[in-house]
Amino acid sequence: MEEKISTTTLEEWLENVKPFAYDGQLADYIPALAKQDPEDLAVSIYYLDGDCVHAGDVESCFTLQSISKVIALALALIDNGEDYVFERVGMEPTGDPFHSIYRLEQHRPSKPLNPMINAGALAVSNMIHGQTPDEKVGRLLSFIHEMTDDHSIRFNSEVASSEFETAFLNRSLLYYLKQHKVVTGSVEETLDAYTKQCSVELNVRHLSKIGALFANEGRDLNSGRQIIPKHFARICKTFMVTCGMYDASGSFAIKVGIPAKSGVSGGVMGSLNGFGGIAVYGPALDSKGNSVVGLKLLEMLSNRYDLSIF
Ligand code: DON
Repeated sequence: MEEKISTTTLEEWLENVKPFAYDGQLADYIPALAKQDPEDLAVSIYYLDGDCVHAGDVESCFTLQSISKVIALALALIDNGEDYVFERVGMEPTGDPFHSIYRLEQHRPSKPLNPMINAGALAVSNMIHGQTPDEKVGRLLSFIHEMTDDHSIRFNSEVASSEFETAFLNRSLLYYLKQHKVVTGSVEETLDAYTKQCSVELNVRHLSKIGALFANEGRDLNSGRQIIPKHFARICKTFMVTCGMYDASGSFAIKVGIPAKSGVSGGVMGSLNGFGGIAVYGPALDSKGNSVVGLKLLEMLSNRYDLSIF
């Protein structure tokens, strides 16, 4: 890409995509997420040289939700190694909604198809080292602090409790996985760790910086320190391409072509080798649980600046 994108351009583009928010709906199956402001809108681009441009409600914080699945996977790989993780969770996209249960029965021995659907992500959370849920989440938070260089990032306990109290489907997935020895230990404790992981709260600037670190082969942009081994960063980005948008991953790959992961709070994190990280926040979601304005904005950026990896 020849030129960097200016703040003014980003501001104009946000204005253009704003009306699309009315085509979407807030996630309300987690009651606390229904309190988000559907008109919040923000974008941030973090270049590999450390420059960051952003526009919109940059200070608005939102919870990671499924975007945390990428970060948790990186930590579980560091903790356990590739063989251990992929003996228990597969590598194939499903084409199903993120909370779908029915493919768990189709594989013998039972194994979630990938770490981006809830079944796979619950198994990955269970693998993160730590004696207690708080120890696991504490380690994940430290990992995020290292990646963002912001040690004030925490999880939102209201969102975490709200999900914990209503996560009957995720409990079902966990009991199934426990029966088939994909997860070990207490179901309630794994769910506790997972819901806290999903509730880690940050803004688009943080998220674009994490995306940039993945794009920088897992190295910190300033110090060059290897925070995620290059091979594990590559595995995470590949899952972002094949499964990052759930059952919309194929159309997203064609229309946008940027490795990206969405969450039901309305965040999307993109990671583009040779370019950096892109984060968008807009809490109104389409029927598949992806941010409507996030997808629109990424599509416009990709087309205008020829960002597709394909
Ligand atoms: O487990 C859940 O349902 C949520 N904590 C996360 C789901 C999610 O973000 C799916 N994303 N589009």
